[in-house]
Amino acid sequence: MRVDILTVVPQLLSSPFSASIMQRAQDKRHVEIYVHNIRDYSTSKHKNVDDYQYGGGAGMVMSIEPISACIEKLKSQRHYDEIIYMTPDGEILEQKLCNSLSLYENILILCGHYKGIDERIREHYITKEISIGSYVLSGGELAAAVLVDAIVRLIPGVLNDESSALSDSFQDNLLSPPVYTRPPEFNGWKVPDILLSGNTKEIEKWREEQAFLRTKERRPDLLDE
Ligand code: 6GU
Repeated sequence: MRVDILTVVPQLLSSPFSASIMQRAQDKRHVEIYVHNIRDYSTSKHKNVDDYQYGGGAGMVMSIEPISACIEKLKSQRHYDEIIYMTPDGEILEQKLCNSLSLYENILILCGHYKGIDERIREHYITKEISIGSYVLSGGELAAAVLVDAIVRLIPGVLNDESSALSDSFQDNLLSPPVYTRPPEFNGWKVPDILLSGNTKEIEKWREEQAFLRTKERRPDLLDE
């Protein structure tokens, strides 16, 4: 998969992809992530990327020209399966959407800043608008990092144990059961006996029960879907 991210604050997008699973996914060539600075596509004297909004009002709007120039250049080089705009008024990100996006070859992600982007970009280039939840961030960059992380870990080969993405919380509308590691007792706090029993069938049953109980308690909405 190839991911192109367009932003006016590329610094915000370096560290999330430079460590751990995201870095390994790139080292192993499962994904290529390119961050583009929209300012590099500005042709104005002072490399402006925003302007006052028509009709008046506080807050700057990201201009159409540099974003269009960047998107057009990338589009001339390859077909994009989806051109995504990160915005609080987009579709709320869920596991199901991550699953389908993880099957794509090329995706382009545009991060908004300031008051937003010129609406004509949304009308003419954007094929999908995504939000990561009902709260407002200063810009789309952290949301884009969340989106890319959620997608990349689903690409086959990215996780060591390939079944481990399938057993994630939300994959079957269930939260994950509790997990433990050594020592079996700490400060008198014990690991449940069943997990030390070696009875794989009973352990599996216990995990399923725990997943169900946890979901019922914490996210009953998932059980109605
Ligand atoms: Cl995608 N962008 C911004 N600015 N805020 C958000 C968001 C996106 N998703 C939730 N809040």
